[in-house]
Amino acid sequence: MENSEKVNNLVFSGVQPTGNLHLGNYLGAIKNWIELQSSNNCIFCIVDLHALTTSDSRTQILQNTREVAAAYIASGINPKNTIIFVQSNVTGHSELAWILSCHTPIGWLNRMTQFKDKAGKNKERAPLGLYSYPVLMAADILLYKSTHVPVGDDQKQHLELSRDIAQAFNRYYQNDFFPIPEPIITGNATRVMSLRDGLKKMSKSDPSDQSRINLSDNSIEIEKKIQKAKTDSHPFPEHFQDLDGRPEIKNLINIFSALNNESVDKIISNYVDKDFKIFKKDLSDLLVEKISLISSEMKKLLKNEDYLDSILKDGNLRANEMANENLTKLKNIIGLFKS
Ligand code: TYM
Repeated sequence: MENSEKVNNLVFSGVQPTGNLHLGNYLGAIKNWIELQSSNNCIFCIVDLHALTTSDSRTQILQNTREVAAAYIASGINPKNTIIFVQSNVTGHSELAWILSCHTPIGWLNRMTQFKDKAGKNKERAPLGLYSYPVLMAADILLYKSTHVPVGDDQKQHLELSRDIAQAFNRYYQNDFFPIPEPIITGNATRVMSLRDGLKKMSKSDPSDQSRINLSDNSIEIEKKIQKAKTDSHPFPEHFQDLDGRPEIKNLINIFSALNNESVDKIISNYVDKDFKIFKKDLSDLLVEKISLISSEMKKLLKNEDYLDSILKDGNLRANEMANENLTKLKNIIGLFKS
């Protein structure tokens, strides 16, 4: 992002309150938000309506909502400057989702790979909300006329759709109401992989807890998971190119690089000729240093529900104000009756 653009930027992103927040959520998304908040207007949402789309993610939604709020704050989001709020508390999201759905060809939604993955073989029984999920996501972003959206690599296709929907709306009403939001997918950890299988994304829904580092893990759990993380029988790579075909090693080095803000080349040159055990020990020390700080702060915050709820209440008010102002203008452009 160029300096001259910063003043009018509006950065928006969100996390689903589905429990098991993990290292992928932190390195792929939240960590980048911390850096953005100092020079941009930022809004970070807890997207609870999205969590209603699958039966597994519907459970413990209130507790998980507070957990995401705690993770945001514990990671360094400052609620004084940045809006932290809960999607279901701003009704404009659902309202805009309907309006945008009327401008979204079904063919665009049929291309969404996440729906295909999540719906599995039995598409006929999948809930409509799972299918129209990307339209709600576009509404989340466009409701605030957001200009930049920092996310992990898995959200790329949804963001392209959000851009297409914004353009379709602007074209139809011959207006430039919506800025076309730019994805920010940066760093070496845009796709953190499972610790058990370097070809699978680290995910909240993986049944094996060993596959991920949770933001709630303590130092002993982190050490054990890294010790057991899958590697291969070859020695430590000598060059960046040696990582091809070695997804597990590539993943661990990428995690190291993202946590330490050091280049992959530098890490390789530091550990070449050393035993993997030494690399793993240093990686787990680094993770303990960064993640257990967040996890202990999260625990403290979660004990203080009144404080967390007051932050969300304030964020809801601020988000509602912006959303209502934009929705009023948008309804005016469409020509809807206003009493
Ligand atoms: P969600 O809740 O699945 O994930 C939250 C953020 O974490 C990133 N992420 C990862 N990054 C790197 N490696 C991984 N293994 C990994 N797993 C998850 C995701 O890319 C995301 O940035 N649809 C979104 C939530 C959403 C949203 C929005 C995001 C709803 N509306 C509007 C941005 C803007 C989702 O399911 O994220």
